[in-house]
Amino acid sequence: LVIGNGGREHALAWKIKKSPLLKKLFCIPGNPGTESIARNIAIDIKDFKKIKEFCLTQNISLVVVGPEVPLVDGITDFLEASGLHVFGPSGYAAQLEGSKTFSKNLMRDYNIPTAEYATFSDFNEAELYLKNIKKFPVVLKADGLAAGKGVLICQSLEEALSALKQIMSDKAFGDAGNTLLVEEFLDGDEVSVFVLCDGKNYCILPPSQDHKKIGEGDTGKNTGGMGAYAPAVIADKRLISIIEEKVIMPTLQAMTKKGHPYKGLLYVGIILVKGAPYVLEYNCRFGDPETQAVLPLVKSDIVPFLLDCAKGNLQNLNLEFEEKCALDVVLVSAGYPDSYEKGYPISGLNDLDNSVLCFHAGTVIKDGRTVTSGGRVLNLVALGDTFADCAKKVYKEIEKLKFTGMYFRRDIGYKVLSD
Ligand code: AMP
Ligand code: GLY
Repeated sequence: LVIGNGGREHALAWKIKKSPLLKKLFCIPGNPGTESIARNIAIDIKDFKKIKEFCLTQNISLVVVGPEVPLVDGITDFLEASGLHVFGPSGYAAQLEGSKTFSKNLMRDYNIPTAEYATFSDFNEAELYLKNIKKFPVVLKADGLAAGKGVLICQSLEEALSALKQIMSDKAFGDAGNTLLVEEFLDGDEVSVFVLCDGKNYCILPPSQDHKKIGEGDTGKNTGGMGAYAPAVIADKRLISIIEEKVIMPTLQAMTKKGHPYKGLLYVGIILVKGAPYVLEYNCRFGDPETQAVLPLVKSDIVPFLLDCAKGNLQNLNLEFEEKCALDVVLVSAGYPDSYEKGYPISGLNDLDNSVLCFHAGTVIKDGRTVTSGGRVLNLVALGDTFADCAKKVYKEIEKLKFTGMYFRRDIGYKVLSD
């Protein structure tokens, strides 16, 4: 059973579907993409009780949880209490994403490199602190989950005071902003590192790079992610081993010392400052859209790995990868990441060439037609020997797709394409 309904979950279902061990695949609630390879079940992902009943009735042998909200809300603990195997961290361990104060304090206590920070639960104290800051930009973050929107980079004191008001007084991110983090601004290239963990043992997946900004050349507003590529060449073998030693191992050890070993996917968001890795954030689940580029590079059957992690018994650490490149371009609705219209029919889906993968994100079937239902609508992914090959294939196929207001960045992978 895969839980979730985005592009990440379609990619997970697609990869799981390839496993010879698989008998039956379900998605809750899934999307039209997953419907073509699995059975979608219309249960609200907040309804843990119904999910549990479904799992027990259907004899589900593995639950893979896509999004962070149910994980932070303790779905793993809830299902495991009934003897189910769940790929995902406990509610306690998911605080690595669910509370920035939790994760920053852990990094400080275990000497894991990250930006300098201070935390505040009192507006006036935060204001006083900001007024004494000499160096801008500065980064303000809501402590809790804010659907990727709770980070504000402020170029001046004025901007910082206005962000403070937004987060702590106006409650722009609800209770997520009860506690505020003020962080030193770091400048550099970012890389996402996914780690499959069983609590102690782990496998590192090929590093990837997201494109968070809406506009070409990384301009404009932050989004959920406009595209990704893998492997991220800036994170070479040497850098990955530094990240392993300075970040991954101490993080897993820290969680074990706290009595809550980390099991599931640990997403380490790294920024490279003059070549040295600093942790920007942890996520407690696969990244979206990075997963859509990373999973096609996994050669091994992923199911035994997910299952062994869920059981806390990952013995085979030899996950194999394709010696290829992958590139994912996200097609979004006009207006995204602000308000956008939905319900527009998508044409061309049946004309796509087999050489590309199409993962659905914000789509639904209405009157027999696939129509848009979200900001991020589709992901087109190509594999190739070079990123240039991938980009050529993806952008050629995108020309076949149409919906009113369709927008995408034409420069996904530009950092590796111009080399
Ligand atoms: P987060 O949700 O913490 O990953 O933040 C979202 C994005 O904000 C990151 O991917 C970075 O691009 C940016 N960001 C977060 N923290 C910092 C920081 N300390 N310095 C510079 N950029 C940051
Ligand atoms: N791509 C960023 C995230 O999944 O949080």
